[in-house]
Amino acid sequence: MKKKTLALILAACMALSLAACGGNGGGKDETKAATQAATEAATQAADNQGTEAQPAEGETAGTTADGAGKTVGISMPTQSLERWNRDGAYLDEQFKAAGYNTIVTYSDNKADQQVNDIQNMLSQGVDLLVVAAIDGEALNPVMNDAGADNIPIIAYDRLIMNDNVSYYVSFDNYTVGVLQGTYVKEALDLDNAEGPFNIEFTAGDPADNNAGYFFNGAMDTLKPYIEDGKLNVVSGQTEFDVVATEQWQTDVALDRAQNVLASYYSDGTKLDAWLCSNDSTALGVSQAVTSDYAGDNDVIITGQDGDVANLRNIKDGVQSMTVYKAVANEAVVTLDLAKAILNGDTIDESLITAAGWGFACDYDTESYATSEGHNCPSFLLVPDVVTVDNMEEKLVTPGYYKVGDDGYLEATNG
Ligand code: GAL
Repeated sequence: MKKKTLALILAACMALSLAACGGNGGGKDETKAATQAATEAATQAADNQGTEAQPAEGETAGTTADGAGKTVGISMPTQSLERWNRDGAYLDEQFKAAGYNTIVTYSDNKADQQVNDIQNMLSQGVDLLVVAAIDGEALNPVMNDAGADNIPIIAYDRLIMNDNVSYYVSFDNYTVGVLQGTYVKEALDLDNAEGPFNIEFTAGDPADNNAGYFFNGAMDTLKPYIEDGKLNVVSGQTEFDVVATEQWQTDVALDRAQNVLASYYSDGTKLDAWLCSNDSTALGVSQAVTSDYAGDNDVIITGQDGDVANLRNIKDGVQSMTVYKAVANEAVVTLDLAKAILNGDTIDESLITAAGWGFACDYDTESYATSEGHNCPSFLLVPDVVTVDNMEEKLVTPGYYKVGDDGYLEATNG
């Protein structure tokens, strides 16, 4: 069933990018209709969650010596953002293959629902929790319950602000922002070109602990150029809270971008770049630029995640780059960490050496804290820049995506 939902979202996203980038400018109405289709598909996917969130008992059964009948609760935020479908699928697949029972839920981006979903996992007697939080602070009560039951918790991708969290598995979030900022810096040749250039920012969900890291990484990289006047934020909107996007929603990013374009660029002011923290927001911004920006220059637009619709936009020159995070590897780290926790092994960088993964991962006990003075030992993978030039090498060669009949990249899992 999950496959069907993913297919639905992907089909709609595909329709969106086709309309957004198709032929001679596509046409605004088509683009709008396709956005609606994508939104409806995502909503439908979210609506379906109640029935498909929990795999049927038969699906989760099947243990081998490795998992030894233990059950892992995997709590994902939502199916309406493409990447979490991939994360949920990889985690489920890999834990099951190692002989664990799994309970997988998606909580429709609703913090209360995620609390309930995890509470249900606890009452079903899970041995370990893997949680990608919707709201890093709202999970406190249920994290405390898990702690009281001595259930280990791995904060997956997004940190949860609760000291019962045992470990954090993610990518180096600050570096994601640095990569985006550096891309803009190099594309505009800020160290050499005369400028000035005009830029706008779109950040992520304030409830997501990662969003600030992404934004700060990008802002710290570009700030020197803003301060010396080489880069100009025409709207003046440089504060995280002002440029943040509730729940990373495409429509929210689209609305704000349209407002900014109407207020500050309709007089013919040139827009050179729009730094977006991820792909779902980049989709909204690209659409606004395509339909509402008066200039005819290519606008540099950044993203993150390698969502299928955005990869199409990159191929078509509508988006410039995405920061790709190999979530299949994030799932591998999570599985090996979970095994070590459940086996009672000592956990430090020796886990990385012993695992012999074919990808880079750092053990970091300094960068993240669940509360003041309470650092959370973290396993951090390395994000990578994907552009039109290296797409196939970075995404197709390792097997994350395949080239479809139409020449665009398609997901290979789900
Ligand atoms: C972040 C995550 C990103 C992106 C975003 C939207 O927490 O690290 O990869 O997916 O959420 O869901």
